[in-house]
Amino acid sequence: MVEGSETETARALLRWYAEMGVDEAVGPAPADLYSWTRADPAAAPRLETMRKTSAPAAPEVTSAQPETISTDEAIKAAEAAAAACDSFEALEAAVKAFDGCSLKAGTKNTVFADGVPGADLLVIGEAPGRDEDRLGKPFVGRAGQLLDRMLAAIGRDRTSNTLISNVIFWRPPANRTPTALETAVCRPFVDRLIELTDPKAVLIAGGAPLQALLGVTGIMRARGVWREIETAGGKRYPALPTYHPAFLLRQPAGKRLAWADLQSLDAKLKDH
Ligand code: URA
Repeated sequence: MVEGSETETARALLRWYAEMGVDEAVGPAPADLYSWTRADPAAAPRLETMRKTSAPAAPEVTSAQPETISTDEAIKAAEAAAAACDSFEALEAAVKAFDGCSLKAGTKNTVFADGVPGADLLVIGEAPGRDEDRLGKPFVGRAGQLLDRMLAAIGRDRTSNTLISNVIFWRPPANRTPTALETAVCRPFVDRLIELTDPKAVLIAGGAPLQALLGVTGIMRARGVWREIETAGGKRYPALPTYHPAFLLRQPAGKRLAWADLQSLDAKLKDH
């Protein structure tokens, strides 16, 4: 093979990787993240899960195969770990130590929350993206910058009066929507975060967290309508669904309705 065609072949391979969603190197060997999360709906779903996960292990250099636990076991482990936490810091440590979500194996960081613990406003989005995984903080990419501007319009920011998190603490491969099993595994931690924050209002940013937190589909119809989130501990919190800022970047016409939602949120937060 002449050198030019080798370069062309390498370029074609890289293009193919990018099209398949392989946009960064996270380990020394390829790891099939999708096979770890594939569930058989006909049977009791088993989510293959690595218990020891600092980086995806290369199968050919490890003698032991990853241990697997069922989704039910992972949810029970999350419930027990979350219930044992009495502070924001303890919960953050518990989430970081938790190995029951298969997504963790393919990521660089656990993305827990950013902002003021105990703030009266808690914003909950979908899942970390590439920038969030790189920096270990939620909503720091373009969508996050728009979210910051939206919040600033009602006097809110993560340095003084707002806490921001997601329904998933690890970046899904190629930013795909988290599965129901993944959100179910993270949910006990999200519920405990809500309880420990004890906010006056929760802003739900987008359709995926709407579905995960309230079991409601269709952000177009649900946005702007106040509902209640009930946590595992039986506490209830006012929650307002609105458009995800990434959607607003693609569809700026939605900003008018998002602004109406923010004004409704502002009124609720100022209500005595
Ligand atoms: N989108 C989200 O839903 N969450 C983030 O943290 C970043 C982008």
